[in-house]
Amino acid sequence: MERRGEGSATLGVGTGYGKAILIGEHFVVHGARGIALGIPKKTTVRVGKAESLRFLFECGDMLKEATRRILKRVAGNTDYEVSVESELQPSAGMGWSASYSVALARAAGKAAGKELTRKEAADAAFEGEKVFHGNPSGIDNTLAAFGGVMLFEKGREAEPLKVGGRFYFVIANSGKKGTTKELVDKVSSLKSSEPTLFGEMMGEEDGLVDGAVTALGEGDAEKLGGLMNENHALLAEMGLSTPIIEEIRKVALENGALGAKITGAGGGGCVLILAPEEGKAKGIAKKLARYSAFEFTVGE
Ligand code: PMV
Repeated sequence: MERRGEGSATLGVGTGYGKAILIGEHFVVHGARGIALGIPKKTTVRVGKAESLRFLFECGDMLKEATRRILKRVAGNTDYEVSVESELQPSAGMGWSASYSVALARAAGKAAGKELTRKEAADAAFEGEKVFHGNPSGIDNTLAAFGGVMLFEKGREAEPLKVGGRFYFVIANSGKKGTTKELVDKVSSLKSSEPTLFGEMMGEEDGLVDGAVTALGEGDAEKLGGLMNENHALLAEMGLSTPIIEEIRKVALENGALGAKITGAGGGGCVLILAPEEGKAKGIAKKLARYSAFEFTVGE
């Protein structure tokens, strides 16, 4: 999304990171623990004074409503003009909406003369996430504000995790995904219609989180990759994968990936891939260039 036109003088600028969920999307909505990574791509929001709320970019009703709520909460009124630039693709499962909401909260804070803490920015952005997602877990806005590698559980303070090595990730975008709200509703319906099965899956996911905390701490990429594949199998069982996601996984795994999974709500969107080393990550990203693949590292 691009900034359009020239507005009044900027009063505040804020940024928010994108995120990738390593383990636990959807299950976190129902109270399970999850692990997410901040990715080095950000959204920048600028706010300037205006007579009433004005957007210097094209946006839909949800984004307008989220903006109103965040401005009101942070700055006390909505008389601002807002512009945005982002390195993230919207609706791809990389947390565009959360990165926008965090960036806006920080910009609005500066415009109102206060520097928000990361927790305050995450909490204000949660108001925006409620508009976009209906029943958000809070994982996206937490990562958008904090970055790093975090252990997340709804209603608890997120915990930064120890990373005992360097992990080489690739993200590939399968194309436009369904809305997060519809996909979250789909999983909630499954929970209602098959409570026993869903309970078992939650238990399995919880075990994957424990394994991933250990694997991250020990720098064990092989183990982490295996856990990502197991997490993908759970998500695919719930009908969240697509033929293109499976094709991307196949290409990644045939080219040396240790693991590959849906990241985010699924139904399209992005695939998170773990490679054993830099050269393999570059090779996989090259093979998946038509899916806008890019690499990033986590840890030392
Ligand atoms: O909207 P996405 O694709 O970035 O993913 C949101 C993650 C979910 O677990 C599906 C929803 C949530 O609120 O945690």
